Amino acid sequence: MDNINISSDMPIGMFDSGVGGLSVAKEIMRQLPNEKIVYFGDTARVPYGGKSKDTILRYSRQIIRFLQTKNVKAIVIACNTASAFALEEIKAEIDIPIIGVVKPGAKTAVETTKNNKIGVIGTEGTINSAIYEEFIHKLKSDIKVYGKACPLFVPLVEEGWLDDDVTKEVVKRYLTELMDKDIDTLIMGCTHYPMLKDVIGEVMGEGVKLVNPAYETAVGLAELLKKKNILADANNMTNEEKYDFYVSDAPDKFKKFADSILSLNVKGAEKIDIEDYYERFWTE
Ligand code: DGL
Repeated sequence: MDNINISSDMPIGMFDSGVGGLSVAKEIMRQLPNEKIVYFGDTARVPYGGKSKDTILRYSRQIIRFLQTKNVKAIVIACNTASAFALEEIKAEIDIPIIGVVKPGAKTAVETTKNNKIGVIGTEGTINSAIYEEFIHKLKSDIKVYGKACPLFVPLVEEGWLDDDVTKEVVKRYLTELMDKDIDTLIMGCTHYPMLKDVIGEVMGEGVKLVNPAYETAVGLAELLKKKNILADANNMTNEEKYDFYVSDAPDKFKKFADSILSLNVKGAEKIDIEDYYERFWTE
């Protein structure tokens, strides 16, 4: 276990399998503009969605170990699959505050539904874990939850096909099943999916409210930092000084994507050998 002194000027660590977590980073940047962020995208090993719990837990531990070398004061698992498979175990292993995206997404959906019928789309890992159902039922037991895995969405997003006829066709194919269930709320239970929200919204129609867990995650993070008394003070730092990006592969492609999603000129992403972490550092 680590014994570090946490202070408010340290950065928030975040990670995802690739660019998906940028949808969460964007919201944290908006709600908490004084915070520094270290983001890691596991672009060499994306997608996480069809991998086993053991593998996701190992990847997550490696990444958290890496983030700890950057002296982060808190960690946001900006990935539903890793939140489903690794959050609980890792919470018990580290001394710094850590949150995921599933609980906040479930809470928003329960507050949103009027007819108590919620759809959840996500990776195979997230949907098969039934974790959204579990959190939703903890809040309100009579809600009907319909899950649907959409494994092709992540490669479409990573490829940048956010508004494309092929994407529309794929979205239709996956979501038809949910359209028959009379849901009024749909959780985008994978951090890549909000980047397809226009297409998803068009296919589902106006009667279905789309829930992006990012908003409530940023609210939860703010509450956590406040409670621990480590909320960053107002500062004049530039975006370049505040935000650092790391990836396990293809940094230039990542930078281009991050620029367009975050609407800022990020200073570039640095490639690191993520396989060097965990085994080497975990037991120290
Ligand atoms: N964006 C991640 C999630 O929220 C992972 C998607 C993937 O790599 O399959 O689940």
